[in-house]
Amino acid sequence: MSAVPAIELNDGNHIPQLGFGVFQIEPERTASAVKDALEIGYRHIDTAEMYGNEKEVGQGVRDAGLDRGDVFITSKLNNGFHKPDDARRAFDNTLRVLESDYVDLFLIHWPLPTLYGGDFVSTWHVLEEFARDGRARSIGVSNFQPAHLDRLAKESGTVPAVNQVEVHPYFANETVRAYGLEHGVATEAWSPIAQGKVLDDAIIERIADSVGRTSAQVVLRWHIQRGDIVFPKSVSPDRMRANFELFDFELGGSDMDAISVLDRGEPGRTGPNPDEFDYVPD
Ligand SMILES: NC(=O)c1ccc[n+]([C@@H]2O[C@H](COP(=O)([O-])OP(=O)(O)OC[C@H]3O[C@@H](n4cnc5c(N)ncnc54)[C@H](OP(=O)(O)O)[C@@H]3O)[C@@H](O)[C@H]2O)c1
Repeated sequence: MSAVPAIELNDGNHIPQLGFGVFQIEPERTASAVKDALEIGYRHIDTAEMYGNEKEVGQGVRDAGLDRGDVFITSKLNNGFHKPDDARRAFDNTLRVLESDYVDLFLIHWPLPTLYGGDFVSTWHVLEEFARDGRARSIGVSNFQPAHLDRLAKESGTVPAVNQVEVHPYFANETVRAYGLEHGVATEAWSPIAQGKVLDDAIIERIADSVGRTSAQVVLRWHIQRGDIVFPKSVSPDRMRANFELFDFELGGSDMDAISVLDRGEPGRTGPNPDEFDYVPD
């Protein structure tokens, strides 16, 4: 039995609360990194068409000797494919390269409110098709602000199962998290350790010393206790292992609060603001 809790999504499906992210893992390293992660015990992989390594994620799962059904796989629609027919083709391609007839979770990667005439709703309707035909077991969004989620609520019949957004101690993203809590959208916290930038924070180091854990473990445990879904990335098996060892200790309320007050609001972001982000890869 895995120690990793399963979170129930609003469509009744379950997702392991802790997974493994593969952003910025070069394709040639991805299959072995995924295999290492699965051997350590991870059962949830977060990829995206934009990361250029979906094919190698599928390969890594097969190399680990696991059945497809044993691993929860998320992928995401790339920014150049929001028009309905492009989205359909892109999704077909995601399944083809993964060598799978479904993904567990498929997301709109960015809302791109300044592109496509601000229309992410027709893109969402196409994801609803994928859910209806069973090729996406769950569907959700990424980097959606409350106003974007409100529009989906008004103009579609499906509440996203998740919203994957930047969250870490320097950018707690509380407004988006609160919206999710109120409307049944699970929050997935991307860059959960801020790509390493929070690890030498004096407060986090002090807490890590006091509980006998690393800074990364303390920050990941803070996310887990807040109820968010996380998938730290590492190419080092030692770090993958450490990042997986989160379920045999607990942070007390004062330590949780001491980390939460590190929130810097908007200046704490490490990534782009979703209201402005308009990058479309070539
Ligand atoms: N939806 C989105 O727009 C979006 C955006 C960004 C990320 N994501 C997802 O979120 C996942 C995680 O975010 P992320 O990759 O940006 O950043 P992250 O997981 O916060 O941090 C990864 C970085 O921290 C290092 N690291 C990992 N574990 C460590 C440890 N125990 N001690 C010290 N350093 C450690 C890694 O280096 P090594 O590899 O050298 O260990 C890597 O440089 C991504 O892989 C992706 O799946 C989604």
